[in-house]
Amino acid sequence: MDNLKLDGLRPLLQYGALAVIGLALIRNIMRDSKDKTPIVGSSGFSSYWGAWKFILDAPNIIQEGYNRYPEGIFRVPRLYRWEYIVCGPKLVKEVGNTPENVLSFYAGVEEVREFKHTMGRAIADNPYHQQTVRTSLTRNLHARFPDVRDEIICSFNDVLQLQGSAWTSLPVLPTTMSIVARVSNRLFVGLPLCRNEEYLANNIRHTIDVVRSGTIISNDETVTRRVVGPLISNKEKSNARALNFLGPLLEERLAKERELGPDWDGKPNDLISWLLELAEGEQRTPLDLVLRILGTNMAAIHTSSMAFTHAIFDLTMHPEHLLPMREEAERVVREEGWTKAALNNMIKIDSFLRESQRLNPTGPLVMQRRVVSKDGFRFSDGTVLPQGAFLSVAARPAHYDPSNYENPAAFDGFRFARERAEHISHYDPTDSQDIFKKHMISVGVDHLPFGTGKHACPGRFFAATELKAMLAHLVINYDVRAEVEGVRPPDMNFGTVTTPSATGRVLFRKRQ
Ligand code: HEM
Repeated sequence: MDNLKLDGLRPLLQYGALAVIGLALIRNIMRDSKDKTPIVGSSGFSSYWGAWKFILDAPNIIQEGYNRYPEGIFRVPRLYRWEYIVCGPKLVKEVGNTPENVLSFYAGVEEVREFKHTMGRAIADNPYHQQTVRTSLTRNLHARFPDVRDEIICSFNDVLQLQGSAWTSLPVLPTTMSIVARVSNRLFVGLPLCRNEEYLANNIRHTIDVVRSGTIISNDETVTRRVVGPLISNKEKSNARALNFLGPLLEERLAKERELGPDWDGKPNDLISWLLELAEGEQRTPLDLVLRILGTNMAAIHTSSMAFTHAIFDLTMHPEHLLPMREEAERVVREEGWTKAALNNMIKIDSFLRESQRLNPTGPLVMQRRVVSKDGFRFSDGTVLPQGAFLSVAARPAHYDPSNYENPAAFDGFRFARERAEHISHYDPTDSQDIFKKHMISVGVDHLPFGTGKHACPGRFFAATELKAMLAHLVINYDVRAEVEGVRPPDMNFGTVTTPSATGRVLFRKRQ
């Protein structure tokens, strides 16, 4: 098209774009005025300003809403939609227990992560790999524990690189991320790949790419998502890099199955085999399997590394916990050795990690869902959310609520160990889950780091095994100290995501 024609069209395009934005604003405001759910923050035209404010100050805005509606539902403006926030035990339980065809977990995740653009359509259409976490991976934690333990020893040595008795300052998040990535991949893909730094770095970067591009795209209107999504995602590069590392191994495993059948002698007990037990048709190709391995790494690495980083920061702020945990870990290992079952008796370590997760969830909100049923969803308090509405649960405020926890803002590392000791004398033997109350893996409406209900994190059994074994190893073999006494590196908040400081350092030395 020549310049003259373009110049003629330009005003038309500009007015067209303004008209589309204007219509979107008016549509949102009309919707706003019909909806009776209370608003926290701004409404009407100023809701767009409120949406920007939310990006900078979400934890405080959500806390304010929770203070006003502790057993209700309120909504906050996001750039292109409203987000409904559900509070209080009764309604949170309803979110957790409502089936997928009414309140959809997958549609909720797709809304914020846009997996079809950021990871690949196969993952969005059939996330069967998540089933392996719920079944084979969790079932094999006992059998694979010696490998997990071995990788913890080797990775602490290689990553911390401590010499003599000197204190060494290390950035905690990158350090724990290197360890968690190695330990997790020992279970997922085994040696030697689990120690390949480029392979691990690709997994770490891939998650950051997905979260970053998902966040940008999901703040956009549907039409723009389709155009912008493919342009800003790094998925082709990450997938190609991962295929480079994993391709030969996956080809070999597929060939072995073709030649010897699904139960060949010496078949490794790892994620690849667990995936192949479920994969069908197109899913039995190296590229599709790569997407599943990247996806499982995405669920596992950042979440667990952030939890362990918080635990180390908490330990430096509350050093009186170190010796009791060291004494407990040494006694248990002396009596039972290093086994997964022995970890069950590390009650103080379990309590410490649970308390650290309580005070440091991955953000103020959890359990994103989209209403997918045609008739919307009616909560027991009478609130009706229409089809398409996006909701989540106020997690952080529940963790800091004095009606749930005594002295809730105080870090009390052994609070759950004490509660377990009290509970054991009057637990309910008719409830098979009651004995696990207050364990790191137990979920509930007042403890939401792993969500609760139908979609509660199925990886939490592995996460707890890995993190407890890592903390026991740390307290037995190392001393830790804050770089500046009494100062905890500040968390970072962006919208609904809270992460521990990425640069915060702590001093480590070999145990003296
Ligand atoms: C401390 C570490 C972890 C935290 C805090 C965490 C947290 C969560 C949360 C909040 C959810 C969503 C729950 C909901 O919306 O109802 C979730 C889901 C999930 N997590 Fe984790 N997670 C962790 C570790 C892991 C690990 C290690 C794996 C895999 C090995 C994993 C695999 C998954 C999967 C597959 C889902 C989707 C569940 C479903 O489809 O129903 N997570 N996790």
